[in-house]
Amino acid sequence: MLKEVAARFGHTFSFDVQLIGGAAIDRHGDPLPPGTVASCEEADAVLLGAVGGPKWSDPNASVRPEQGLLKLRSVLGVYANLRPVKVLEELIPASPLKAEILAGVDLVVVRELTGGIYFGEKTRDATTASDLCTYHSHEVERIIRVAANLATQRRGRLCSVDKANVLETSRLWRDVTDRLLRNEFPAIEVETLLVDAAAMHLLSRPADFDVIVTENMFGDILTDEASMLAGSLGMLPSASLGDSKRGLFEPIHGSAPDIAGKNLANPCGTVASAAMLLRYSLGLHAEADAVETAIHAAISQGARTADTAAAGATVLGTDEMTDRIIGALD
Ligand code: IPM
Ligand code: MN
Repeated sequence: MLKEVAARFGHTFSFDVQLIGGAAIDRHGDPLPPGTVASCEEADAVLLGAVGGPKWSDPNASVRPEQGLLKLRSVLGVYANLRPVKVLEELIPASPLKAEILAGVDLVVVRELTGGIYFGEKTRDATTASDLCTYHSHEVERIIRVAANLATQRRGRLCSVDKANVLETSRLWRDVTDRLLRNEFPAIEVETLLVDAAAMHLLSRPADFDVIVTENMFGDILTDEASMLAGSLGMLPSASLGDSKRGLFEPIHGSAPDIAGKNLANPCGTVASAAMLLRYSLGLHAEADAVETAIHAAISQGARTADTAAAGATVLGTDEMTDRIIGALD
């Protein structure tokens, strides 16, 4: 896809392919080998395939594929994970939700990506386990600024999601958020929701949301839920950004081991992630728009992978779907 964009728009992209996750464990015994880190640090942008799979999923194993991804996010300092959810009218029948609820849904979840319970100390003995969740005010401030700036460029609405009725980290999150928004973004329309209620509102009134900002684990869970608005987990892209232009771009789905290698997976989430890469890390806005338009055009023309196809409709494989998107670039 990126090669096609380069050819059509007169760019030269150089690609360096490196291992992460299970493949890196098999080859190097390390889910994030130093060579992968060095290559990512040198690159202008990183496009990532999903990690994980049954071969490496022993819960007691000391190395897991996911550790590679978490470490890469942390090493690259990409604390802001943008997960846009836009419902395409043509895919409304692919969603389990009612059409009238889905009309006009266009939201972005901004997920804090390098803090919280994912990165706290973990302990385990025979009968007891613990995962520490810590947030510092500077981590909350920088993610709220990203989300508020994004809301300012969009419809001016920001919803902050926490669990301040129970968690101390959420009470810090709420205090910092309230103060920062009041001082720096007085024009933004702000809503605050507890995460359990947010999970419900995301299904009952998704079109009301513009930008949703939340901590690492809540964002992980809410975005899998939100993917059902778009019709399939395979549709959603993400961009993980830090303070430099270099970002990490990946679909929000996992490695789908049940269909891996069968030419069945929906490529849209990955292709849309490449569009975000063009926009955010390379500053190629026209190119990014062209890729997103091509995805939409292919879908408008009826191209569907198995996850979004209606019963009895023609189903394309991953390669054929990708070809249809490339074809729609012209
Ligand atoms: C995601 C994934 C990852 C996460 C896993 C693979 C570690 O679920 O990007 O949403 O939990 O962040
Ligand atoms: Mn996830």
